Amino acid sequence: MRLSLRFVLPLALVLAGLAYIVVPLVDQLTLRWSVRDLNTRAALVAKTIEEPLYEAIETGSNQKLLKQFADISEDERLYALGYCATPNAAMVATRVMPREIRCSKLDRYVGEDGYVLHTDREMIHVAVRPMGTGGVLILLQDMGYFVERSQQTKLYIYGFFVGLAILISLITVFIAQLSLRGWNEALRLLVRGKLPGEIPTAAASTSPELRPIARDLQRLIRELESENRSRDEAQINWNPDALKAMLRGELRGEDIIVVSNREPYIHVEKEGGIEVQRPASGLVTALEPIMRACSGTWIAHGSGNADRATVDAHDRVAVPPEKPAYQIRRVWLTPEQEAGYYYGFANEGLWPLCHIAHVCPIFRSSDWEHYVAANQLFADAVVQEATTPDPIVMVQDYHLALVPRMVREKLPEATIITFWHIPWPNPESFAICPWRERIIDGLLGSSILGFHTQFHCNNFVDTVDRFMEARVDRESFEVTSGGKQTAVRRFPISIDWPPDPLAMEKSAEDCRREIRAINHLPDNQLLGIGVDRLDYTKGIIERFRAVERLFELQPEWVGRFTFIQIAAPTRSSIGEYQNYETLVRAAAERINLRFGTEAAPAILLKIQYHGPREVYEYYRAAELCFVSSLHDGMNLVAKEFVAARNDNQGVLLLSEFTGAARELPEALIVNPYDADQCAAALHMALTMDPMEQRDRIRLMRSLIAEFNVYRWAGRMLLDAATMRRRMRLLGDTSKVA
Ligand code: G6P
Repeated sequence: MRLSLRFVLPLALVLAGLAYIVVPLVDQLTLRWSVRDLNTRAALVAKTIEEPLYEAIETGSNQKLLKQFADISEDERLYALGYCATPNAAMVATRVMPREIRCSKLDRYVGEDGYVLHTDREMIHVAVRPMGTGGVLILLQDMGYFVERSQQTKLYIYGFFVGLAILISLITVFIAQLSLRGWNEALRLLVRGKLPGEIPTAAASTSPELRPIARDLQRLIRELESENRSRDEAQINWNPDALKAMLRGELRGEDIIVVSNREPYIHVEKEGGIEVQRPASGLVTALEPIMRACSGTWIAHGSGNADRATVDAHDRVAVPPEKPAYQIRRVWLTPEQEAGYYYGFANEGLWPLCHIAHVCPIFRSSDWEHYVAANQLFADAVVQEATTPDPIVMVQDYHLALVPRMVREKLPEATIITFWHIPWPNPESFAICPWRERIIDGLLGSSILGFHTQFHCNNFVDTVDRFMEARVDRESFEVTSGGKQTAVRRFPISIDWPPDPLAMEKSAEDCRREIRAINHLPDNQLLGIGVDRLDYTKGIIERFRAVERLFELQPEWVGRFTFIQIAAPTRSSIGEYQNYETLVRAAAERINLRFGTEAAPAILLKIQYHGPREVYEYYRAAELCFVSSLHDGMNLVAKEFVAARNDNQGVLLLSEFTGAARELPEALIVNPYDADQCAAALHMALTMDPMEQRDRIRLMRSLIAEFNVYRWAGRMLLDAATMRRRMRLLGDTSKVA
């Protein structure tokens, strides 16, 4: 349609111009030239015939004159000839002399250039020449040939111009087609060029005139994609089956490779034989159900003393032990490597660096060397486990910051999703790390880099901006370095929902009774619960301080309220953790001395590992749960407590410095450094009306039900799927090109 318009329009314009301007102009010109020719000819003829005519005129014989006129007309191919002796005389003329030419009317034309007479049928040129006799000679020349020539000229002109118009139209269409194709191609490249993943952006950067369009187009695409994604996401009932179906549909059943330091099942040699332990780790809590749903391989450090005894020849073991669904591929580290990489660089360096918990990070170059070497071991394991050149690799956490880049070097087409489970500090704080550029560069090997909160995404992007030679697009949150893009995204982690039915088997009432009985507490004792690794970032001392302040400010709770703290030992080889344990024990002791009663302690400190089911019983038995982290990426204890309370009772006190506080505003949000405020929140929780408890916990439960861990993983994998589709498309079209 548009194409035909492009063709017809120039043609119509040319024809109109031809009809109204060119042809009349050419007609006029031809006429003028013809008249000039005829004048010249008339003058010549008149001169030639003047003498022979004198004689006849002198004799006064009209017959003679007419005879001569007839001869001359024939010889000179004149239309008619006439003679007027005076203006009043009758004209002596050949037969065909038109009536409108009379002697009386010719005065003004004498010697002039003649004129054109239009009769009914003809066009005649009239020339009036003076004679030596005093009379005038009238010469008429037929202009029929002129009409004919004019018609012919018109025909030529029309033909020429129509041909020209067709040619111009064809050229216009051709050029339009070419430029359209060029634009299409440029736009396609631009659209592709902006996409996250490993797509070159050269087209976008070399066509400055296309940049505004590209920006709009890209924004539009992003908006559409995110709208579609949220709509698709919201429509899915996120559970293991949905995740499996998504993997089959969107990712063509690709296997997933997860790589983390901590393994989900640890085999430990005990007196009675080999025991399987589940580590206390938010990362494991979140990823384990995902791997059960997706199958694939989980690469992790084999840290149990019976781990080697339980793997096959390829260092693999199928888990969960009761119903195997996926493989653990164990990576072995020497004690020196573990000390330098895990205890040293990761947990004495990066951990305190990223958590603003006022513990000074320690960076040793020997630790760094172990960190690099260990990361290489994990990356090599990923490459070995990959069965395709473009596997989906999910790299977990701060222990493995260099793995994305190392894997990318070996498997350039891999889709690498890295998730940073802990906070990312501001650039000033991160600057402390002597190998900051290497860490950032390692992470930029990822296709997608995820954090729990937008705040951490912002901090990361600011850090890149500060220290790296990379292009940071703050609108799309994509970082381009070395021609490759990394999409920085917020994916708040969550927990398995609905919770494991086995963990919910016992009624809340039974849990209340049993937990009190096990801990030798009175039946009506009110309980608070805290569940953490024994880590200084968790604010356990601050929590105890708040309990102490509660007893100071509201002594009516003394003897009626006990706070149970479950603290799983962790990273105990590190001096800071040993000190922390000493401080935590001392704080509990001191407070118990002040406010413990014979019937019940103020604080019941249980420094030992508790399995997930046991922990759930504590959650269900308590009146309140207190999460007082000084800084925490998300904190899944908060979500687990809410999930455990299907009786819709219980109050959550939640530190404002956790990622969870952004998702669970119905909790009592506190500043763990403010003991008075926390004490007031404890009092409020202990006196909260059951209806209010129900309203608050229901809202929080509905959020977790909607945003469970399957959705967390599903969103990342959906993004990965979109990226892979585009990559394939680019691959295909580039082959065609
Ligand atoms: C945090 C980290 C995890 C880690 C967990 C337990 O949640 O983000 O990566 O697994 O702590 O720590 P651990 O050192 O025992 O693995």
